[in-house]
Amino acid sequence: MAGQISPGTLSPPRQVPKGIDKPSYWRTGQPKQPRRVQLQKSPGQIRRMRRACDAAAAVLDRVGAAVRPGITTDELDEICHDATIELGGYPSPLNYNGYPKSLCTSVNEVICHGIPDDRALEDGDIVNLDVTVYLAGMHGDTSKTYPVGDIDAESARLVRVTYECMWAGIRTVHPGGDIADIGRAIQTHAEAHGFGVVRDFVGHGIGEQFHTKPSVVHYYDPSASFEILPGMTFTIEPMITVGDWHAEVWDDGWTAVTVDGRRTAQFEHTVLVTDTGVEVLTLGPGEIPPDS
Ligand code: MF3
Ligand code: CO
Ligand code: CO
Repeated sequence: MAGQISPGTLSPPRQVPKGIDKPSYWRTGQPKQPRRVQLQKSPGQIRRMRRACDAAAAVLDRVGAAVRPGITTDELDEICHDATIELGGYPSPLNYNGYPKSLCTSVNEVICHGIPDDRALEDGDIVNLDVTVYLAGMHGDTSKTYPVGDIDAESARLVRVTYECMWAGIRTVHPGGDIADIGRAIQTHAEAHGFGVVRDFVGHGIGEQFHTKPSVVHYYDPSASFEILPGMTFTIEPMITVGDWHAEVWDDGWTAVTVDGRRTAQFEHTVLVTDTGVEVLTLGPGEIPPDS
């Protein structure tokens, strides 16, 4: 079934000034794959993760504040790009595996990786803004779904439950725990509300590389079992659907949409496993974890 979102026109590529430290792929599009990744980060790496994640949260807050009917997703991309550079960072999506923009903007039935274009947001839309900043040699990754003007009750419930799903996943994390428990908590909460959990996209380890082990699946999969250890940093980023959770990707190679054209929402935080539990590194200004 066709949804309402269709491919738009992209603006010319945005430039990143000399003097901004850039990731391996910025020119070639190909991320350099290290032979082995250190999953448990050192205190120095954790300090650098904090800088990248603080910046990502600040940029997301800036871009989110601009959401309103009439603004184009390309204008949101420009705000993201400029705010990232202002903080001394590189917008991680730009040229990552050839991705053409600095932000992902996923509207309504777009699950993730929507490319900013000339489409103006409309009253009643929901839009996920996914910001990743490369700063101090590390990536920090966070996203939120925003209402545009007045949204219908079902969309509001989808956005609220998706946020709760992310936090239900985060709350399971502790040293000695299991990555697979994250997805179990998320799926349980989503399905209790009659919603689906997207399978084709996962959370991920993050640090010097944008995407590393471990994969963080958002549904229950016993084969996703992986021991959680102190110093690990990874994302939790459930995509929840009103209807069918199956995804298809547009011919642009990026834009993932629901097969039934119904709406989907996503929230994402980057977390650090501490000696005693979990710390959310990308908490936004004034964001307080909700009660379970
Ligand atoms: N930020 C996305 C994630 O949560 C990845 C975007 S990759 C891009 O993993 F190339 F589309 F930017
Ligand atoms: Co991510
Ligand atoms: Co992201």
